[in-house]
Amino acid sequence: MSVIEMKGIKREYRMETRGKKSKDSEQDVIVRALRGVDFSADAGEFVSVMGPSGSGKSTLMNILGCLDKPTAGTYTLDGIETSASNPDTFAYIRNRKIGFVFQSFNLLARTTALENVELPLFYRRREKDDVKQHNSTRKEQAISALKEVGLAGRMDHFPSQLSGGQQQRVAIARAMVNDPAFILADEPTGNLDTGMTLEIMGLFQQLNNQGKTIIMVTHEPELAAYTKRIITLRDGELVSDKLVKKRRNAVDDLAKWNKDHALLSGAFAG
Ligand SMILES: Nc1ncnc2c1ncn2[C@@H]1O[C@H](COP(=O)(O)OP(=O)(O)OP(=O)(O)O)[C@@H](O)[C@H]1O
Ligand SMILES: [Mg+2]
Repeated sequence: MSVIEMKGIKREYRMETRGKKSKDSEQDVIVRALRGVDFSADAGEFVSVMGPSGSGKSTLMNILGCLDKPTAGTYTLDGIETSASNPDTFAYIRNRKIGFVFQSFNLLARTTALENVELPLFYRRREKDDVKQHNSTRKEQAISALKEVGLAGRMDHFPSQLSGGQQQRVAIARAMVNDPAFILADEPTGNLDTGMTLEIMGLFQQLNNQGKTIIMVTHEPELAAYTKRIITLRDGELVSDKLVKKRRNAVDDLAKWNKDHALLSGAFAG
């Protein structure tokens, strides 16, 4: 079943011409950021979104993440037509159906790893169907999400007491704790070194093997090689949609990288 179904998605920005006297909107410049994109993804997919700067990746991500609505076209998420929804429903879909992972982690600084992961569940409690959710269940859910990302031993640490890779793991646990329809990751390893990048890609592959659907924006072909499918945007159009033929395994690559690294530091140590 399709988790994501986009048809004819257009996003146009109207730029008002400066200093004009009349209210003649025909003089406005229209930027066509997306020019009719068709894209669908099934449960269990792992898709990279690629394309040069200005091609419309962020615009597409914002629409996929229900942060923005298209100017034209339809976007159905998990069977719900999002473009027609009212603001409350739109926010509900965003909070419950999508798990966000950002380049900059976006964790709350004065809050432990566990509390950061619990946060989406607090918002959820305000909704009618979840009034009965207890504090203990919430904590259990957050603990189990942190265990899934391999951070069982770091739950009481604050973000500043964690490595970049560990902080991103917390963010991934937070993205998963609501059991969203898919995870939307925007350059998730952009702030990480090679080792940590491979760790995070390994974690994404592991979660995807367990059935999680992941959509990831990346500039780097090396990272797209860990996903299962690559879509490419150019000038607001989807110009290519390909399955990854020889998918790389991030755990294997990390082991190799660690080995090379150890040899290298050994050589320097004499
Ligand atoms: N708020 C806005 N108002 C006007 N034009 C915009 C706005 N946001 C984006 N655009 C334009 O839409 C086009 C697509 O922008 P977008 O940010 O989606 O590109 P991108 O692929 O994410 O690029 P990058 O790789 O540099 O992040 C660009 O030409 C951009 O200038
Ligand atoms: Mg962008």
